[in-house]
Order: sequence, then C-alpha cells, then structure tokens
Amino acid sequence: MKISVLGCGYLGAVHAAAMASLGHDVVAIDIDEERIAKLAAGEPPFFEPDFPELLESGLASGRLKFTTDFSAVHGARVHFICVGTPQLDDGYAADVSQVDAAIEAIIPHITKHVDGPVVVVGKSTVPVGTAQRIQDWLDRDADPAANATLLWNPEFLREGFGVVDTLTPDRIVYGLADSPQAEAAGETLDEVYAEALRAGIPRLITDFATSELVKVAANSFLATKISFINAMAELCDVSGADVTKLAEAIGLDERIGPKFLRAGLGFGGGCLPKDIRAFMARAGELGADQALTFLREVDAINSRRRDAVVQILSRKFGGQLSGRRITILGAAFKPGTDDVRDSPALEVATRLSGLGARVKITDPIALDNVRILHPELQAVQDVDEALQGAEAVALLTEWPEYKKMDPAHAREQVSNPYVFDGRNVLAPQQWRAAGWTYRGFGRP
Ligand code: UGA
Repeated sequence: MKISVLGCGYLGAVHAAAMASLGHDVVAIDIDEERIAKLAAGEPPFFEPDFPELLESGLASGRLKFTTDFSAVHGARVHFICVGTPQLDDGYAADVSQVDAAIEAIIPHITKHVDGPVVVVGKSTVPVGTAQRIQDWLDRDADPAANATLLWNPEFLREGFGVVDTLTPDRIVYGLADSPQAEAAGETLDEVYAEALRAGIPRLITDFATSELVKVAANSFLATKISFINAMAELCDVSGADVTKLAEAIGLDERIGPKFLRAGLGFGGGCLPKDIRAFMARAGELGADQALTFLREVDAINSRRRDAVVQILSRKFGGQLSGRRITILGAAFKPGTDDVRDSPALEVATRLSGLGARVKITDPIALDNVRILHPELQAVQDVDEALQGAEAVALLTEWPEYKKMDPAHAREQVSNPYVFDGRNVLAPQQWRAAGWTYRGFGRP
C-alpha cells in the first residue's frame, strides 16, 4: 500500500521504516532538510536499536523514501501524522502547530483513491478534541471525492524499544468517528497492520476522544507510579527504611506489579513530563481541572528529586560548590537512548555547574547532544578519565556499564570516594567495602 508519513522524529522515522519492512511503499516527509538528507543517505539522526538495519533495508528495497517535498504524498492511500507536540514555551499546554501544519500541507494533495476513502491516521499525542477538529477541517477543505477520513491511532513506543513497540505493540487503538467511511478507514488500517493483527495483538475500537485520552492516561499512570515510589523514598529517607526492598515487596502483589517502581531521580524525556502538563492544561480548558490536580503533585515530586541531588551535593561541600570537581555518570534521560530532552541527569549537571562546580559528564552515546546544548559542561567519553580527580561522583542515568562498574578500580581514579547513586542501582555494601561513602535515594 502506498503510505505517507509526516514527521521524521523518533516516532515518524521508525514508523516509516517499520511500515516499509512490512512491504508497504512509504514516503516519509519532514521540513528539516539536514535530517531528511541523513535519513535518505541511510544515516540514522538518533540512536535507536534495530533502526539502522531497518532503514538500510528499506532504502535498499526502494520501498522507503525521504523527502522535504510535500507533493510526494500524492496518491497515498494512508497518511500517518507523526509530528511532535512539545510543551508550549509560555504554558503547560501542548503546541499542536506541527500537527496543523502537516494537515494543511497534505490537504491539497489528498485525491480520490480507487480503493476507498483516503485515510489520515493521527499518531501524535494530542489534547482531547483535536481529532474531531481535524475531521471537521478535512470535511471542509479536502477534495470531497477523496472522502478523507481521520482515524486516531495513538502510539505507545518507548525510546530504545521503538522498532519492537511499532511492529509488536501491546495493543492497537483505533479512534473512529461515527460514520460509514470510518468503518472502511478501519478496514484499510487493518490491511496496513495485517501482520500484527494476525499475530493476535489486541485491537480496540473507540471514539475519537477515548483514543486521544488512552495515550495521555497511560503516560499519566506511568508517571504517577514513578512519583508514588519516589514519595515512598522520601518517607524511607526519614524513617531509615529501604525503598528498593519496599518496591520489591509491594511489586509482588500482582495488582501492583514490579514495573515502573524504580525510585530515583525520576522521569524525564520528551513525553512523560510534557504529556502530564498538557493533560492538566486540557482538563482545565474543559472545566475538569480538579480531576487532575493529583498530577501537579506527581510533577512536583518528580522535580523535587532533581532539587534533592543538588542539595545533597551542595550540603556535602558545606554549601560551597564553587570549584568542586563533580563527575556525573549519564546524560541521556534514560539508558538505551541518546535523547537528552528534559533529562534529569543533564538538568542536575547544568545546575551544579551553574552553582560553580567543575562538572565532568560522561555518557556512552549522548555526549554529542550534550556538547551542542551545554558547551559549558566538560563532556568526557572515557569513564576513567571522567572520574579522574573527582571529589564526588553522581550516577544519574543507569547505563549497564555504570551498574557493573568495579568500585575498587573506580576508587583509584577519584580524589575523594563519595558516590551518590541517583538510580539506586549500585550495591551499597560492595561500594562501602571498597572505601566509598555511598548514598542513594530512600536507602539507609
Ligand atoms: C514513554 C512511555 O513509556 C511510552 O509508552 C510512550 O509511548 C512514550 O513515553 C511516548 O509518549 O511517546 P519514553 O519517554 O521512551 O516512553 O520513556 P520511559 O521508558 O517511559 O521512561 C520515562 C522516564 O521514566 C525515564 O526518565 C526513566 O528513567 C524514568 N523511570 C522509568 C523511572 O524513573 N523509574 C522507573 O521505574 C521507570
């Protein structure tokens, strides 16, 4: 099937390559010329496991093309909207201007298709109500002969697992309008996702609003779980309890489950923080702000984690961070990605640097992004070199290589063996036995 994908970020680029791997004929479009040139040359513009192989084979097959020319969407039967919806600069709400620009750009190219309605599939995370607005817009401005029909199909991919999550998601949600073409649009998307559906992946049909809410509700739940365990860590800190044991014990209750209960520096990235804020903003617009006031607390608990690390390190140096040599292990917002958007680790590093500390930061793959955004930080690729002369070390992104670091070897590199384990992943006894002063979140 001829498919267009609008937006070539983590979501769009991976989606386009995944659709080509299923045998579809895909054209992917973005306004960023540099990004498109890289993708067209087979160079992934970001780190994502399995994506380079998929990109290469898609390009080699001739079924995957990248361009900045929107007229290339002409003749596609399905158009996927995969652009970003970041937080507005001046508020909590989501900026949907990229979604609107994509719709505006494709409308003149939506033309009658012999096989049925032309389907526009929304995958971006949007405020509830957006889908209906777009369907009304298509009804008004698109060629009536094309029967342009919107279907909301939220994306649940995790960075670092983008390819797996795209090809074999936990569930597929179709948000449909109540119209005869909507059913035909659903059948068209069934053809696109035939392989996943054959494999038995559950597909849920809802109305537009429910499908939009499913996505933000899921991310809000995940954020709440993380902040819940971080609040427990605060209690553990004042009572001498151990939050890692507490999480293990409550997680064994099947109703609670062990995932997303790792206490530490909290959540970051391009999704969870901005999604809970956009959700609160939208609830306010709809007159239901009280329903989501708890998310304010979720956000506040999360921000407190970042403040806490800065305070703990500051107190360690008697309130004087100026000139202190601090090494930060990890810059990405989580392991398995080079994405530093709203990275807790990077925020802590820049705040310490702003307070006068001499910060060295290391990360297996995210340092290029750090250098572009924060040239004031000393980005050091080699871990031993990053540790040289440190008066304090803070592990803030739990990359496997940091988790299995040898404390005795690390001890030889630093000038003062103090480690703050911001992700509770080191074994305190081992580090203490090697001469370190160890501190974690909510651990005695
Ligand atoms: C998240 C969701 O997990 C995806 O399902 C969703 O599709 C995506 O947002 C999106 O909206 O597009 P992602 O941003 O890739 O995916 O990151 P997560 O794996 O959810 O991690 C988010 C943050 O939570 C990270 O900073 C991580 O370090 C932190 N985290 C996670 C914890 O602090 N503790 C935990 O126990 C788990």
